[in-house]
Amino acid sequence: MYPNTLHTEKQPPRLEVSHLTVSFGGLTAVDDVSFEVRPGEVVALIGPNGAGKTTVFNAICGLVRLRGAIALDGRAAPRRTARLTTRGLSRTLQGLGLFASLSVRDNVRIPVVGSTDADAIIAAQLDALDLTGLAERPVAALAYPDRKRVALARALVSGPSMLLLDEPAGGLGPDDIEALAATVRRVADAGCSVLLVEHHVDFVMGIADRIVVLDFGRIIAHGTPDEVRRDRRVEEAYLGIRVDGAEGAVA
Ligand SMILES: Nc1ncnc2c1ncn2[C@@H]1O[C@H](COP(=O)(O)OP(=O)(O)OP(=O)(O)O)[C@@H](O)[C@H]1O
Ligand SMILES: [Mg+2]
Repeated sequence: MYPNTLHTEKQPPRLEVSHLTVSFGGLTAVDDVSFEVRPGEVVALIGPNGAGKTTVFNAICGLVRLRGAIALDGRAAPRRTARLTTRGLSRTLQGLGLFASLSVRDNVRIPVVGSTDADAIIAAQLDALDLTGLAERPVAALAYPDRKRVALARALVSGPSMLLLDEPAGGLGPDDIEALAATVRRVADAGCSVLLVEHHVDFVMGIADRIVVLDFGRIIAHGTPDEVRRDRRVEEAYLGIRVDGAEGAVA
């Protein structure tokens, strides 16, 4: 009857990054970056070293000064990391940030200390990530792939609706990467949005619904894995070759 009833009620994006710019002194690490992550979507942020990927994460988490806007579920994101948890955001770090002398279980307990049913929630999360057998061991005694699963369990135990993963496949072998992909898929299928930074291109191509490619702080390509794979600018940024094949050529 009314024109606007023709538009179906649209859910706001889980995460909306608008015109994000972050500068460190004279260096513009992130330059006018805009993208969104919809509910249950897996979006990958890729790009060469120093492209600004971790800085985008830090901006989302309120850890750096920024220009532009970050919104979660259609409302401005709080600029304090602690408050972000209450808005459903959780992250893993490029360095794992675990407490080496604490047990696996106690590391995973940290985000849910004081919650009712914490023990049951922790036990279920340890089980989901195949950590039950390691639960009482100190993190320092664990192999690197097991530590990475502890970091992931700690990020998941609060039941986030928006999960940020910084290089989750880094340092893992093929079997662990396959298990990680299954975990990310399961989490997304349950409705949690995932934004991941990753260098491992095969993993990204297999898991992401959409890919955002950064180079020198700017988005140079954005699309489905197939669209991004075919993009010449992406090839250039990764391989350091020019479209005209003039690498190393002296003019
Ligand atoms: N706190 C900081 N102070 C000054 N410069 C910084 C800071 N954090 C990042 N930078 C610079 O900003 C740029 C982007 O860095 P960032 O860590 O976001 O890159 P990245 O894409 O995550 O790279 P990598 O793939 O190596 O992790 C780099 O030039 C880096 O040196
Ligand atoms: Mg980084």
